[in-house]
Amino acid sequence: MALNIKQVYDLKKGVSVSLLHHLRRLGAMGISGAFVLLAGLGSAYGAGPGADVCKNCHERVVATYAKSVHGLKNMPGSPASSGECSSCHGDGTEHANKGGGRGVGGMISLNSKTLSAEEKTAKCLTCHTTTKNLLYWDMGVHKKNDVACADCHSVHSGGPKLLASKVTIQPFATSPQQKQYETCFACHKDIRSAVNRMSHHPILEGKVKCSDCHNPHGTLAPKMIKADSNNQLCYTCHADKRGPFVWEHAPVEENCMACHNPHGSKSYALLNEKPPLLCQDCHDWGRHPGTQYDARAGFPGTNSRQTVTSPSNRFYARSCTNCHTQIHGSNAPFNSDNGYNSGKAFVR
Ligand code: HEC
Ligand code: HEC
Ligand code: HEC
Ligand code: HEC
Ligand code: HEC
Ligand code: HEC
Ligand code: HEC
Ligand code: HEC
Ligand code: HEC
Ligand code: HEC
Repeated sequence: MALNIKQVYDLKKGVSVSLLHHLRRLGAMGISGAFVLLAGLGSAYGAGPGADVCKNCHERVVATYAKSVHGLKNMPGSPASSGECSSCHGDGTEHANKGGGRGVGGMISLNSKTLSAEEKTAKCLTCHTTTKNLLYWDMGVHKKNDVACADCHSVHSGGPKLLASKVTIQPFATSPQQKQYETCFACHKDIRSAVNRMSHHPILEGKVKCSDCHNPHGTLAPKMIKADSNNQLCYTCHADKRGPFVWEHAPVEENCMACHNPHGSKSYALLNEKPPLLCQDCHDWGRHPGTQYDARAGFPGTNSRQTVTSPSNRFYARSCTNCHTQIHGSNAPFNSDNGYNSGKAFVR
C-alpha cells in the first residue's frame, strides 16, 4: 500500500508545512522512509494528539488557546493548522495515555524553571522567524538577560497580543484585558515608580504605550528605543521641537534627556530637576546671576541697566523659564525695543 503525501499528513496531524515540503522533495521515497523522517523531525516541530484529547483534562487552557490566533485553523502556519498543542509542548501521546500529570510523558512545560530561557524561546522561534518586530531579538537586551517570550506573552491568557497577566485585580480597568504596562512593571519596578510620579507621560492614562517608544523584542538603538536616537524618537510626537531654529539651545539639539525624564519625574514637565537648579547645572553667572537668590545687584532684565536700583529679582515658580520661554530654540530676531537679541537669549 502506498500512501500519498496528503494521507501521510492526515495521519500525522502534527507535521508542519515546511516538513511537508521536505516530504514532497522526497517524493520517490518509500513510506517507511518517510515515517522515519517524521519520527526524527517530529520532536522538533511537534506531533501528537489533537486538542480534543487534551480538552478533557485541560478545559480552560484549551478554550483560551482556541480563541487566540494560535487556535485558528485557517491561519496559515498556526499551531492549529499544524501540530496543535504539540507545536509547543511536544508529543503528548504518552502523557494522555498515562492519564496525565506533572512530569508524566515528558511534556515540555514552558513555565518550567529548569528549562533555560533560550530553550523556551526556541519553541516560539520555530515559527516566529519572519516577523519584522522580532528582527533584532538576538541583539535585544531582553534576550541577553534571559527573558523568554513567555515571560511577557501568555499563550493561554486569551488577551490581545497574548500579553502575560501577572495581576488578577485591576481596580481602574474597564475591561479585564491586561494592560501592556502591567506586563512590563512585573520586572521594571523603577519605571513603575517613575510613571506614578506627579509629572509623567500619559502611560497609565492609556494615551502612550511603552511600545510606542520601545520595541521590547530588541532594536539596533540603545535602550531598545524605536528610533535612531532619543531626539528622533521625541520628534515623532513632538514635531514642534524639531526646529530648525535660528537660535538653537545646544543641549536640546544633543539629547532631550539632558533635561527630561522620558517616563516621569517629581518636577513639572517631566524635568529632571526644577529650574533654576536645572539651568544652574550648566549655567554659571553670565550677564545676570545664575543663582536662585536675590539678584538685585547687576540684573539687566528690566528696562534699565541701573543695576543698583533694579527691583528684586528673586526667582520663583518657573523662574528662569518665566523669561526664557523659548527654551527649546527660537526664531526671534534682534529686538529694537529692548536693544538685545531676544531670540539668542530664548526670551522670545
Ligand atoms: C487524563 C487527563 C489529562 C489529559 C488527557 C492530558 N493531560 Fe496534561 N496534565 C494533566 C494533569 C493532571 C497535569 C498536571 C497538572 C498540574 O499539576 O497542575 C497535566 C500537566 C500537563 C502539562 C504540564 C507538564 C509538566 O510536566 O509540568 C502540560 C504541558 C500538559 N499537561 C499538556 C497536555 C497536552 C498537550 C495534552 C493533550 C495531548 C494533555 N496534557 C492531556 C492531565 C491530563
Ligand atoms: C506552529 C507555529 C507557531 C508557534 C510554535 C508559535 N506561534 Fe505565535 N503565532 C503563529 C502564527 C501563524 C500567528 C499569527 C500570525 C502572526 O501574528 O505572525 C502567531 C501569532 C502570535 C502572536 C500575536 C498575537 C496577536 O494577538 O496579535 C503572539 C504574541 C505570539 N504568536 C506569541 C507566540 C509565543 C510566545 C510562542 C511560543 C510560546 C509562539 N507564538 C509560538 C504561529 C506560531
Ligand atoms: C519584554 C516583553 C516581551 C518579550 C520578552 C517578548 N514580547 Fe512579543 N510583544 C510584546 C509586546 C508589549 C507586544 C505588543 C506590541 C504592540 O502592541 O505594539 C508584543 C507583540 C508580539 C507579537 C505581535 C506582533 C505585532 O506585530 O503586533 C508577536 C508575534 C510577538 N510579540 C512574539 C514574540 C516572541 C516570539 C517572543 C520571543 C522570541 C516575544 N514576543 C518576546 C512584549 C514582549
Ligand atoms: C504557541 C505555543 C503553545 C501552544 C500551541 C499551546 N501551549 Fe500550552 N503553554 C504554552 C506556554 C507558553 C505556557 C506557559 C503559560 C502561559 O504562557 O500561558 C503553556 C502552559 C500550558 C499548561 C500549563 C501547565 C504548565 O505548567 O506548563 C498546560 C496544561 C498547557 N499549556 C496545555 C496546552 C494544551 C492542551 C494545548 C493545546 C490545546 C496547548 N497548551 C497549546 C504554550 C503553548
Ligand atoms: C521577566 C522580566 C521582564 C519583563 C516582563 C520586562 N522586562 Fe524589560 N528588562 C528585563 C531585564 C532583566 C532587563 C535587563 C536589565 C535591565 O536593564 O534592567 C530589561 C531591559 C529592558 C530595557 C533596556 C534597558 C537597557 O538598559 O538597555 C528596556 C527598554 C525594557 N527592558 C523595556 C521593557 C518593556 C517595554 C517591557 C514590557 C513590554 C519589559 N521591559 C518587560 C526584564 C523584563
Ligand atoms: C515617550 C517615550 C517612552 C515611553 C512611553 C517609555 N519609554 Fe522607556 N525609555 C525611553 C527613552 C528615550 C529611554 C532612554 C533614556 C536615556 O537615554 O537616558 C528609555 C529607557 C528605558 C529603560 C532603561 C532604564 C532607564 O531608566 O534608562 C527601561 C527599562 C524602560 N525605558 C522601560 C520602559 C517601560 C517599562 C515603559 C512603559 C511603562 C517605557 N519605558 C515607556 C522612552 C520611553
Ligand atoms: C508616542 C507619542 C510620544 C512620544 C514618542 C513622546 N511623547 Fe512626550 N507626550 C506625548 C503625549 C500624548 C503627551 C501629553 C500631552 C498632553 O497631555 O497634552 C506628552 C507630553 C510630554 C511632555 C509634557 C509633560 C507635561 O507634564 O507637561 C514632555 C516634557 C514630553 N512629552 C517630552 C517628551 C520627550 C523628551 C520625548 C522623547 C523621549 C517624548 N516626549 C516622546 C506623546 C509622546
Ligand atoms: C535645556 C533643558 C531642556 C532640554 C534639553 C529639552 N527641554 Fe523640553 N522643556 C524644558 C523646560 C524647562 C520645559 C518647561 C517649560 C516651561 O516652564 O514652560 C520644557 C517643556 C517641554 C514640553 C512641554 C511644554 C511644551 O513646550 O510643549 C515638551 C513637550 C518638551 N519640553 C519636549 C522636549 C523635547 C522633545 C526635547 C528634545 C528635542 C526637549 N524638550 C529638550 C527644558 C528642556
Ligand atoms: C545640559 C547643560 C544645559 C542646561 C541644563 C541648560 N543649558 Fe542653556 N545652554 C547650554 C549650552 C551648552 C549653551 C550654549 C552656550 C554658548 O553657545 O556659549 C546654552 C545656551 C543658553 C542660552 C543662550 C546664551 C547665549 O548667550 O547665547 C540661554 C539663554 C540659556 N542657555 C538658558 C538656559 C536656561 C534658562 C536653562 C534652564 C531651563 C538652561 N539654559 C539649561 C547648556 C545648558
Ligand atoms: C526677569 C527675566 C529673566 C529671568 C528670570 C532670567 N533671565 Fe536669563 N536673561 C534675561 C534676558 C532679558 C537676557 C538677555 C540679556 C542681554 O542679552 O542683554 C538673559 C540672558 C541670559 C543668558 C545669556 C547671557 C549670558 O551671557 O549670560 C543666560 C545663559 C541666562 N540668561 C540664563 C538664565 C538662567 C539660568 C536663569 C535662571 C537662574 C535666568 N536666566 C533667569 C532675562 C531673564
